[in-house]
Parts: sequence; C-alpha cells; structure tokens
Amino acid sequence: MDLKAEIKKLLKEKDAVLLAHNYQIDEIQEIADFTGDSLGLSIEASKVQQNTIVFCGVHFMAETAHILSPEKTVLLPEIEAGCPMADMITGDKVRQLKMEYPGVPVVCYVNSSAEVKAESDICCTSANAVNVVKSLDTDRVIFVPDKNLGHYVSRFVDTEVILYEGFCPIHERVTKKEVEVLKSKHPDALFVAHPECPPEVVDMADHVCSTSGVYKYAKETDNKKFIIGTEEGVGYRLRKENPDKEFYFAYDSFKCKNMKKTNLKKVYDALVNEQYKITLDPALRNRAYTSIDKMLQVPR
Ligand code: 13P
Ligand code: SF4
Repeated sequence: MDLKAEIKKLLKEKDAVLLAHNYQIDEIQEIADFTGDSLGLSIEASKVQQNTIVFCGVHFMAETAHILSPEKTVLLPEIEAGCPMADMITGDKVRQLKMEYPGVPVVCYVNSSAEVKAESDICCTSANAVNVVKSLDTDRVIFVPDKNLGHYVSRFVDTEVILYEGFCPIHERVTKKEVEVLKSKHPDALFVAHPECPPEVVDMADHVCSTSGVYKYAKETDNKKFIIGTEEGVGYRLRKENPDKEFYFAYDSFKCKNMKKTNLKKVYDALVNEQYKITLDPALRNRAYTSIDKMLQVPR
C-alpha cells in the first residue's frame, strides 16, 4: 500500500488537515499540510478550516491545538508521544510556587500540560519568550518548566526571572566541548542554538532561535556551513531549502525519541480509526486557553 497516497486520500475524505512539528520524520514532513515550530503550529491550529486536525508531534502540542480549537477533532496518532520536560512540572508544583512567591506572575513554556497552563498567567514558546516576559508589567516572574529557556530570557529583560529545575534531556545533552570540536573542524561554520540548550552552549552561538527560526537563519545568512544546536528533524527542510549548504548537528544522534514515535502507518491508523482523540474537561480547557490566548496577543 502506498501509505502517503492513502493518507492524502483519507485527509480529503475526512475533511482533515495534517500538522507536523519540525522534528517529525522526513516522510511525515513531506506530506504535512503545515510544518512548524510550537508557535507556528498553535497559530495554524487556531485557524484551520477542516473539521479534524491530525497532529504529528507530542502530546502537549496536540493538547494546545485542542485548547485553541475545541470544536475540532484533534487526533494524536501516537498516544505515547510525550515530552519529558513537560512531565517535570505539575499543576500542584505551580500552586506551591505561587504560595512561595505571592503575586508574582507565572510564565509557562508551552511544553507543559493543560493543568500547568491553567495555573499560569501567560504561556510562551521558544519563539516569543522574551517578548512575553517583556509584555508583563512586573519586577519578577516565575518561569516554568525550562530553566535554560528561562535563563536565556533573563539575558534580555530587567525583570528577575525565578527559574524552575526543568529541562529538555535532548538539548541539555549538548556540551561546550562538542561544539568546540565541531567549530575547530569547521572554522567557517556558524553555530545556531535552540534556547533549550545549556547557557554555556548558548554563549557560543552566533544565533539563538526556535526550530523554525533555524530555517530563516540558514536561508538568509550568506554562509555555507552551519552547526545546528537542535534536533535533527530540522535537517529535512534545511537540506531541501539549501542544497548548496552544509549542516552539522551538535552531537551524533541528536534525536527526540518521542517525536520519532509517529510514522506513516500510525498516521494512517489515526485517520481510519479516528484515534487518539485529545480532549479536556471544558473548565480546565477554558483556564488553559486564557494563558495561551494572552500569549497570542503579544506582538511578535
Ligand atoms: P519549538 O517551539 O522551537 O519548535 O520547540 C519545541 C520543542 O519541543 C523543542 O525541543
Ligand atoms: Fe520535549 Fe525535548 Fe522532545 Fe522538545 S526535544 S519535545 S522539549 S523532549
């Protein structure tokens, strides 16, 4: 069976759209109607025309799509695709932090559960975190769960950023040493890092941005070689859009295994069996919506 052709047919028949994160396997990115970073995908999910969204990514991303478009059916083809960083914080922990720091607003990275978003004042993604914190009229913010993104934001704001101990195991794994070795092998390469990387790695970067920001940087920068400090899924579009350029990943096998759990067969099954539907209790959804909606109001 030609799975790609079957999926395309089913998408039409079922009035569905396929959204995929930049870390998805090449075959999925190839057939997706839209690929993007968390912010781009959220914006897209909030305005799709089709009745069903097949979301190829991890759980919090599909949940965000449901929060933004509750009248649509949101399907996550692999229900076990989670995000270890999102699992590092719970609604209870946010409530504890709010008691510890009364009156201090909570900014939550979109890599978090609906419950955490519901307890937070405003959400952010890697693409808009600095602007989100700047938009708040406050001296201090609590930033959850990513300590590295929180630290990155603190470089650009006067606001004190109270950090939480969360991190992405995939980006936390990048070391200064590895980047130094790559830089010495390719002295004319520019280093672009995701802000989930540790601060000492971010310090070495020529550019820091979200996963979609990497595409823009590689395309618009008149350089032939790049060292990439994020997951290897971005390689698909980087190579396609820049056939004359070379890309080296900061370490071998820079892979998010949760992002790689989705494949064509699972997308096909998702469409045939209408699985796995992502839903939330409406009261929880409404509270989580408030923090995402506030984020979307922040100018980019
Ligand atoms: P982006 O929003 O930059 O795509 O990041 C999402 C993510 O999970 C990075 O690890
Ligand atoms: Fe989560 Fe890290 Fe995977 Fe992104 S790369 S989905 S933060 S585990």
